[in-house]
Amino acid sequence: MCGITGYIGTRDAWPILIEGLKRLEYRGYDSAGVALVKKGAISVYKAKGKVADLENSAADKDLSGTAGIAHTRWATHGEPNTVNAHPHLSPSGRLAIVHNGIIENYSTIKSRLQEEGYVFRSTTDTEVLVYLIEYLMQKQGKNLLEAVQSALREVIGAYAIALADRDDPDMLIAARKSSPLVIGIGDGEFYVASDVSPIAGYTDRVVYPEDEEIAVLRRGVPLKIVNLMNEECSHEVRPVPENIGLTGKEGFPHFMLKEIYEQPDCIVDCMRGRVDTSLGTVRLSAVTENAERLSTAKRFIIVACGTSWHAGLIGKQYLETFCRVPVEVAYASEFRYSNPVIDDSDVVIAISQSGETADTLAAIELAKSRGAFIYGICNVVGSSIARATDTGSYIHVGPEVGVASTKAFTGQVAVLLLLALNLAEVKGTMKPEAYHSTVKALLEIPDKMREVLKSDKGIAELSRTFTYAHNFIYLGRGFSYPVALEGALKLKEISYIHAEGYPAAEMKHGPIALIDTEMPVVFIATKNTMYEKILSNVQEIKARKGRVLAVVTSGDKVISAVADNVLDVPETLECLDPLLVSIPLQLLAYHIAVCKGKDVDRPRNLAKSVTVE
Ligand code: AGP
Repeated sequence: MCGITGYIGTRDAWPILIEGLKRLEYRGYDSAGVALVKKGAISVYKAKGKVADLENSAADKDLSGTAGIAHTRWATHGEPNTVNAHPHLSPSGRLAIVHNGIIENYSTIKSRLQEEGYVFRSTTDTEVLVYLIEYLMQKQGKNLLEAVQSALREVIGAYAIALADRDDPDMLIAARKSSPLVIGIGDGEFYVASDVSPIAGYTDRVVYPEDEEIAVLRRGVPLKIVNLMNEECSHEVRPVPENIGLTGKEGFPHFMLKEIYEQPDCIVDCMRGRVDTSLGTVRLSAVTENAERLSTAKRFIIVACGTSWHAGLIGKQYLETFCRVPVEVAYASEFRYSNPVIDDSDVVIAISQSGETADTLAAIELAKSRGAFIYGICNVVGSSIARATDTGSYIHVGPEVGVASTKAFTGQVAVLLLLALNLAEVKGTMKPEAYHSTVKALLEIPDKMREVLKSDKGIAELSRTFTYAHNFIYLGRGFSYPVALEGALKLKEISYIHAEGYPAAEMKHGPIALIDTEMPVVFIATKNTMYEKILSNVQEIKARKGRVLAVVTSGDKVISAVADNVLDVPETLECLDPLLVSIPLQLLAYHIAVCKGKDVDRPRNLAKSVTVE
């Protein structure tokens, strides 16, 4: 997954493209490049590393030009270096292309072109596509649009592309299939981007081309969209969603820390208009509008990836406990190829912060094709998943920039809870006292989160004592088991320390063999129905000289006496523990990574939005 941008109009393209790339850097940041088109020439600028490296490397160059395309990369084919960085040029240098996605049959096409004598410069799948397009122009006398249509009919895979033509500097071409693409319509000008963020601020009119559609962007001429068979396609011009744009760190050293601190306000935003504080009730418009469909569902299937999948594991417990409906939680990447037994009595809940995760999108399409009703839980308004679902609820936590998901996780958990509560009321499956006390306890969560954040300094100090570790184990039970998985994921993705999450009682079935004096074991040991059991699990680790860090409920004496270190969180209902316990685990991962000097916001090999399968 990568980010693409493009501009054609009357302004200088370079600053627009560079700014756009910075806004898309969450999609990948191992190399970046820009191609500027001027009459008779295409100038290409590339650099390994981040967009800032590209900017520095091009500082003394001629950057004039009112049309161009740009790319920030997350390598799939070919190592991250300047040669493999986009844009890629056609053999003659006439065409430049940027691409997000994967051309799966690139090696077959490449061999065919090599037999014709073509020599490739990079090891990317993208270069093959631009070579194929130029080949079709030269050998079959097609114009650029015809050649693009013909090439895209041949390729298998996913693409969002933008193309510039040296010989036609007044036109850009953009197309998509299974990768996101947005066209911004300005005054005699067009913007191209992987999402609306590079476009916001320049125009408030955007078009989202459908799969296998090609946008012809000719300077000063209205937008034209055609399909691969050259039939003209209608398109709806939509407004840019509100609250889109660049957010700053606002005094925090990293976005991740800022986003951890935003969580109390995020939960308030998440509940706004949905929780009636005076009545102590919950209303989600998606539930109100689809009450019959949702309440008669025979089964729910949650599909998601990574952190969103962890939130799904908690959502399963909410829906099963409160709504008495069976719930399965599937990795979207497995579900999409699993030939699942699913029909129109099922509701599929797709959870995704970005709303662009390719595997989750594919899982939705599969479930849809079998008649399931799709409920989306997304953060990014207007994202592909938000548009692909039948109904849904946004988590409303604002842009999440740090690659390690924090506020989106707690936002997803909160929305899943609201969904389960609302549905339980509709179905009559929850006792009114339990329903109202849960709503009341949820309303207290933001203040309790603020309380937890006060332990930040202490966690920062404690973190210094863990930088020696090469492995960590995170243990929890019940509602806290998915939080243990999430805590381990946070640590590994930003500190590069290997970490595993387990249900605490599973330790004795194998993993306990790993315990020695070097092994930190993080227990989620809050005061709840599992407390005594967790205490025994803590004892088992201590008996083997493991180093125990326990997250306990404030005032806890028993586990605190056994553990080597404790972090406390205020008391709440057991089902709400994940909202509080996540915070010290996020802070622990954050501070360990900072102590180890890692790039917390943009960890190696990762990207914020995973738009390849
Ligand atoms: C979380 O910290 C990750 N970086 C990652 O697991 C993420 O949650 C996953 O890629 C799913 O993304 P989505 O929520 O945008 O679909």
